[in-house]
Amino acid sequence: MAKEKAVFVCQNCGYISPKWVGKCSNCNSWNSFIEEMQSVEPKGLKSKTQATAGNAIKISEIRRREITRIKLPYDEFNRVLGGGLVPGSLVLLGGEPGIGKSTLVLQTVLNLKDQKVLYVSGEESENQIKLRAERIGIKNDNCYIYTETNIEKIIATIKSIEPQIIIIDSVQTVASADLTSSPGTVSQVRECTRLLQEYAKEFEIPVILIGHINKDGDIAGPMSLEHIVDAVFQFEGDNNHYYRLLRPKKNRFGSTYEIGVFEMQNYGLKEITDPGNILLTGENTGLSGVAYGTIGEGSRTLMIEIQSLIGNSVYSSPQRTSTGFDSRRFQMILAVIEKRLGLNLSQKDAFVNIAGGIKVSDTAADLAVLASVVSSYYDKPLPENTCFVGELGLSGQIRPVSFIDKRVSEANRLGFTNVFISAAQKSELDKKTSGVIPVSDVRDFAAKLFRKGN
Ligand code: TYD
Ligand code: MG
Repeated sequence: MAKEKAVFVCQNCGYISPKWVGKCSNCNSWNSFIEEMQSVEPKGLKSKTQATAGNAIKISEIRRREITRIKLPYDEFNRVLGGGLVPGSLVLLGGEPGIGKSTLVLQTVLNLKDQKVLYVSGEESENQIKLRAERIGIKNDNCYIYTETNIEKIIATIKSIEPQIIIIDSVQTVASADLTSSPGTVSQVRECTRLLQEYAKEFEIPVILIGHINKDGDIAGPMSLEHIVDAVFQFEGDNNHYYRLLRPKKNRFGSTYEIGVFEMQNYGLKEITDPGNILLTGENTGLSGVAYGTIGEGSRTLMIEIQSLIGNSVYSSPQRTSTGFDSRRFQMILAVIEKRLGLNLSQKDAFVNIAGGIKVSDTAADLAVLASVVSSYYDKPLPENTCFVGELGLSGQIRPVSFIDKRVSEANRLGFTNVFISAAQKSELDKKTSGVIPVSDVRDFAAKLFRKGN
């Protein structure tokens, strides 16, 4: 009989320590250890059975089975999945509370009228789900709702209903009665996922797991879960904003490069098939400190609006704050401006914000951030209908970026008639693009910018 012993498990990465510690030595997170019971095999009972050799097979001899994906009613969702839901796969959908995960999944399955779906909710009552379904306004006779948190009961219900798609909302609320730790802990989440995975693989049924994310943006507790599941998607956007991005973090059946774009409306989410300018506010043209740039998201280019504010600091060490943009990269851009353009920012507070509540990691936004800082410093608006595409090097050179052709054409299509790009990329451009202003470094850029803007 296995005995139980108390151990401390990091809720961020699953690292096990025999004693409580304040900081995880594996993932460096603070205060993440929780006591959990773990079964230990008595010593001396190690398996003595001799295993027989298994069959390894040449890759050339493996016969590939065609996967028939389940097409979801939203193309934005299908594209991110790599063409639809793969039978037997486990998909984890993470996002902040209230961002619209339950809405997205419920709305998707309500629209799938010919598939039997089981929607297990450990968070909301049947009544709440019914109200949401009414708000979304789609009737469906094939969607079963089950409010339960005990995984053994859930599996039993799955076996009796035999759904073709299973939804678990959320993975942090379900728990196994065989474990003493509370729901949401690493061991519970792993065990419940393992049980669901066993079922999913055996009966080739896809399972969508909804998960919450913690303040660092990781799917709370089960970072370890990301290894087990086949695909991990993040649903993100600003709570006060209408747009939502569905972004893959991992996908065994498709690219992690594509994003899906939705808009939250009164009757649920609407897919946005032409999202080029959704992140622009349209309110700030003609103001100083506002610059436009592009980010490449898979096969798409999105225009972004960058807002900077440079002001005199009242403190001895000025503030540097960035929202939606990497703060170290922002510091680097400020340093390049000081050193290569000679602007004195050492006594200035500097703030940068990306409109629309998204996080930008594309370095092609560097030049737009630089332009917005310079514009705010001089309190002079940037020229109209102008956008900035380029990566910044420490020496002040404007470096090439990927898919320049696509970015410039999209900017042109959306009415940007002047596009600053790296001089190194001028020859890569299509003849159809127009208004391109090649610049080699920040000095060249400043000279041309002010000539343009008078
Ligand atoms: P929800 O799906 O409950 O978020 P999550 O499951 O990620 O926690 O979404 C909740 C938010 O969405 C809530 O603040 C209300 C809003 N909402 C709408 O604006 N329109 C709608 O039609 C629905 C169903 C929700
Ligand atoms: Mg929810």
